[in-house]
Amino acid sequence: MSEAPLDPRDEVGVAQAVTEAQEAFAQATTFDELKEARLAHSGDHAPITLANQQIRGLDKADKPVAGKIMGRARKAIQEALAAATERLEAEAEARILVEETVDVTLPTRRAPLGARHPLTVIMEDISDFFIAMGWDIAEGPEVEHEWFNFDALNFGPDHPARQMQDTFYIDGVAAGGQVEHQDGLILRTHTSPVQAREMLDRGVPLYVAVPGKVFRTDALDATHTPVFHQIEGLAVDKGLTMEHLKGILDHLAKHLFGPDAKARLRPSFFPFTEPSAELDIWFPQKKGGAGWIEWGGCGMVNPNVLLSAGIDPNEYSGFAFGMGIERALMLRHGIADMRDIVEGDIRFSQQFSTTGRSI
Ligand code: PHE
Repeated sequence: MSEAPLDPRDEVGVAQAVTEAQEAFAQATTFDELKEARLAHSGDHAPITLANQQIRGLDKADKPVAGKIMGRARKAIQEALAAATERLEAEAEARILVEETVDVTLPTRRAPLGARHPLTVIMEDISDFFIAMGWDIAEGPEVEHEWFNFDALNFGPDHPARQMQDTFYIDGVAAGGQVEHQDGLILRTHTSPVQAREMLDRGVPLYVAVPGKVFRTDALDATHTPVFHQIEGLAVDKGLTMEHLKGILDHLAKHLFGPDAKARLRPSFFPFTEPSAELDIWFPQKKGGAGWIEWGGCGMVNPNVLLSAGIDPNEYSGFAFGMGIERALMLRHGIADMRDIVEGDIRFSQQFSTTGRSI
């Protein structure tokens, strides 16, 4: 700096420096330019800064005058700098708004999310219900021996239930579908064959729930499907009674259908339970008004079934139950047509959830 510094008492000179600073700030069109202008007009070597430093060496009498002039000048410069900063920020924001505008009418390239099928979800929910009570979960084979599906369950060779079950036989082993094909392979008609398997595998005491797929030769229509799902329950222990059975079913009904739901047992017949009962559920939210709905079968395990698994019926007793999963889903959600459950249209599943559990 060869020139003498500006005199802080020189009101005109200082005003000139302020004007120059204000103009420089106002002309800056970028933050870099503004920074340059700031260094030039209010940085360490700026005329105003240097003038300010002169105040120290002035006569005492001149100091107040100079202080006033410089104070005003510095305030004006700060204000001009703040205004310029604000202007540049506003411009940047406006530019971002324009540059980053989203055209909400553009088509997306989003990969569609899948959805878990509500059958899977409700089966896991029911399984969790039993796991929470300390039960085991088991799955038997879908291609089953006739022996497990019928014989071990106390169906006599000529028992009409064998025909009632409308069985799919494998490989034509049972051409004609007659009873002489006892050793044949079939698609299981219910989850009950897993009862015998689990009694043999795990022994007693036994608490096991069996969710799974079952098959009957029904044509697909609004209320039938040849492939559907059941949840089987089997408990074998000392001192089990029908009261335990009723308690569990009541509890399950409330879990699935709400706190006011309850179970009712009506006398019935199954070869593998004695006594046997049909299970009805009181469903308060039933479409068209609260009412009883048939949901499955149950009963005390027939002593012959215990014997066929090598369990002494004098020491142990058991109860069993089996319910249709599709039916539970249809009731709970007012699904009128079975085919909606079967067809696998993603839009159907998406109504229940995309993430899984909370249906
Ligand atoms: N397996 C029977 C059915 O499919 C239901 C059932 C299971 C009945 C267990 C009694 C005990 O209809």
